[in-house]
Parts: sequence; C-alpha cells; structure tokens
Amino acid sequence: MLKIKVAPSILSADFADLKGELKKINNADLVHIDVMDGHFVPNITFGPLLVKTIKKETVIPLDVHLMIEEPEKFISDFVSAGADLLSVHIEVIKQNASEVIGQIKSLGVKAGIALNPQTPLSAVESLLSEVDFVLLMSVQPGFAGQKFKQEVIPKIKQLRRRWKGDIELDGGINLTNFRDVIKAGANILVAASAIFSETYRGEREPQKIIKEMKDEGNKIWH
Ligand code: DX5
Ligand code: ZN
Repeated sequence: MLKIKVAPSILSADFADLKGELKKINNADLVHIDVMDGHFVPNITFGPLLVKTIKKETVIPLDVHLMIEEPEKFISDFVSAGADLLSVHIEVIKQNASEVIGQIKSLGVKAGIALNPQTPLSAVESLLSEVDFVLLMSVQPGFAGQKFKQEVIPKIKQLRRRWKGDIELDGGINLTNFRDVIKAGANILVAASAIFSETYRGEREPQKIIKEMKDEGNKIWH
C-alpha cells in the first residue's frame, strides 16, 4: 500500500546552514537533491560531494534527481555518496534507458524515470515494469519557485490508471495545490520554495508544512 511522502528539495535551503536546514525538516520522508549540469538544464547545482556531506547529517533517505546529460557516467558516484533513490530523465537516455535503469538497480538503490512537462507518458510506457518510481515534472526543470503547470494533472491521472507504483510530482507544489496533485494520483510530493523559502511559507515552520501535507494527504489518499 502506497503512502503519501513529502520530499523537501534543498534547492531553496540556506546553503550556508544546511545542517540547520536539515534539522528543520526532520519529519520529512525523503530529502530531495536536485543535481543540475548546465547542459540538460540552464543551471548548475550539486555534485556527489554534497550528497556525501548531507548523508552524514541525516538518516532520512536521499532522493537524488539527476538533471544531467549522460547520467550513466555518474550513477555509481552518486550511489557511493549515499543516494537511496536515483532518478534520471528519459529525455537524455532514450537510446539506452533499460540499461541505465538496470545499472541503478544493480547498485541496490531505487530507480526512477523522470519526465519533463512536455514529454508524453508514451515515452516511458515500456519502462514501467522496470522502474521503482516515476517522477513527473510540473515545471520546466532548472529553477525553484516556478508556477505549477496545471496541464500535468491529466497526465498524473493517466499514469495512475495504468501504474500502481510511486508517482512523484516535482515543481510548484505548495499548500494550496498539493491536494489536487494527490487526488489525481500522485503520492510523493517534492517542494523547495513552499518548505524552505520564507517568502513562500511565511510564518509557518517547515515541519508544520510537511506535517500538514502528510496528514491531509493521507486522509485524501485512503
Ligand atoms: C526544478 C527541481 C525541483 C525544484 C522544485 O528543476 O527539479 O525539485 O527544486 O522547486 P519548487 O518547489 O520551488 O518548485
Ligand atoms: Zn527535483
């Protein structure tokens, strides 16, 4: 039976105090780490070294989202660094998708396939029996703080009709729209701004936002 999971993305955290930021989300189910290479997406973020550092500071499983070209070159580095879940984008592994997914699984971590908003589900149809989770982007990947793309809702519903595993939604999720995402069939919620950015969360503490998403989410789910 799937559960609602909340995965705060550290992309909007205070990097000068990551230790403190991780404490603020100690009721999270996963810690989402957005790896960007400046090629697949127009931004550069973290590498395996940061994953390794975070691993030492938390017992929460690390959900590493690779937004990079040629991910196969770096998979073992991220797994050695401490990734527990690893997702790769179908847009960059069209030619060798099964092989890459197999590589991730052979290292003993959960393998996810990620899709940009405009990539149709048909692109991953044949992989559904191989992956542990599907990550649907609800913004164009690259930056935190963008607006949730409403057109992804029918895509979630369509995927849920044919797939019983974990569906992770990433981009623009907040306290106003998370219910719609769950009702459509997603069970893992990624949120950066809504959890870490004071501009977005206001007075609410990160833990409270996580708790509300989980409690209410589980009520909707069951
Ligand atoms: C976007 C990243 C997301 C991002 C979400 O490229 O994959 O994980 O951090 O940020 P928010 O929740 O602010 O949209
Ligand atoms: Zn992400």
